[in-house]
Amino acid sequence: MSEPKKLFVKTYGCQMNVYDSERMVSALGSDGYTEVDTPEDADMILLNTCHIREKAAEKIYSELGRFRPLKNAKPDLKIGVTGCVAQAEGQEIIARQPMVDLVVGPQAYHRLPDMAAKVGNGKTLVDTDFPEEDKFDHLPRGPKMKRAPSAFLTVQEGCDKFCAFCVVPYTRGAEVSRPAEKIMAEARDLVERGVREITLLGQNVNAYHGAGPDGVWSLARLITELAKIENLLRIRFTTSHPNDMDQDLIDAHGTLDKLMPYLHLPVQAGSDKILKAMNRKHTAESYFALIENIRAARPDIALSGDFIVGFPGETEEDFQATLDLCEKVRYAQAYSFKYSERPGTPAADRKTQVPEDVKSERLARLQALLSKHQAEFQESLVGKTIPVLLEKHGRLDGQLIGRSEYLLPVHVLANAEKIGTIINVKVERSDRNSLSAREVE
Ligand code: SAH
Ligand code: SF4
Ligand code: F3S
Repeated sequence: MSEPKKLFVKTYGCQMNVYDSERMVSALGSDGYTEVDTPEDADMILLNTCHIREKAAEKIYSELGRFRPLKNAKPDLKIGVTGCVAQAEGQEIIARQPMVDLVVGPQAYHRLPDMAAKVGNGKTLVDTDFPEEDKFDHLPRGPKMKRAPSAFLTVQEGCDKFCAFCVVPYTRGAEVSRPAEKIMAEARDLVERGVREITLLGQNVNAYHGAGPDGVWSLARLITELAKIENLLRIRFTTSHPNDMDQDLIDAHGTLDKLMPYLHLPVQAGSDKILKAMNRKHTAESYFALIENIRAARPDIALSGDFIVGFPGETEEDFQATLDLCEKVRYAQAYSFKYSERPGTPAADRKTQVPEDVKSERLARLQALLSKHQAEFQESLVGKTIPVLLEKHGRLDGQLIGRSEYLLPVHVLANAEKIGTIINVKVERSDRNSLSAREVE
């Protein structure tokens, strides 16, 4: 037997990249690679990248620069770039950073082990195809190893929405749903490995419409079937588009105990003029009506959102409409960003770009409001007894970290053997992005 080769993977961007990295590690594992925590002694380094904002994409080049001494010291070290920057920039990456040996786009990961074996010593390979075959069929899962209690599972990939600011339809391609039975089998396999919570992933996860044994399954149907898996305790999904939030999925939030009361439902902006310019195809009012409908089905649902400030043409009045919408919805948690011009997207060429200082100032105001609402949500849980799925050890001795049904992390002192189980805790304190609690019977 030859020495195992060492693989270092660094993951950027969204949860789908986290899932993809796991799949690449297990596929390369079948090829003799074991994962290591530092790049210094690796035989291959993979950067699984994100192209969503300029900063995210540019970071990759500085990161690659840091690997230069490693490559000089060990010329047969292989360096690969995967993910959305790989898809968007392809060959250009090697032109800019000649020490990169391979570039693989998200739809070609099943070819990675083969490519990895061929590159090195000056030979480079780039694959940014969108092949016909199902990459997941060719990405082996490896031996049954015990897994952490919470796992991601991609059910849908790509996007046909073409929001005017967004690269995802170009980097991930057209919307594709995986067949329902493959997802069911993968979920059962994860549960056998110790997984107790599964988060279903897709860029437009609620548009899921996969082939099932008795016709096309919606996301609601898929979740209903997954909920029948014994020992799978919790189900989540992300990210949803408001226009694909069908009634059966809303109803599922009211009827399925295993479906967690948390929904990430990005709105981006509160001004109808800006929503139209963004090609979002919904209004602030239709979005708010949807929120009311969801809250009717599950009154305690925690809502989360994404926001972009300073989209081209956004006036102070438009921005005010975003603040107003936040006041109405009161998100439990949210992500907000300054608009970033992305090459090749329609909004990048618009003449009405908002100055950087205006964007910064608006972002600060929006984030102050969102933080206030988040703190209020967290405070509302103090003194309550809530169920927590314990996931891992905390930093302090005896401390464990779990998650509430609302996804919010909870710190609690408990026996480590309880990791992977749900315990009841009484919330004692709200911290910045977590709760502290005490175990109760
Ligand atoms: N539906 C997707 C959204 C992906 S991008 C999903 O599955 O997650 C995540 C968020 O990044 C978007 O909701 C949007 O708020 C933000 N974003 C996308 N493009 C952006 C850009 N050009 N500038 C700033 N933020 C952007
Ligand atoms: Fe991007 Fe819009 Fe598609 Fe989300 S729905 S991935 S923001 S284009
Ligand atoms: Fe980034 Fe690609 Fe995800 S651009 S957010 S890694 S889909």
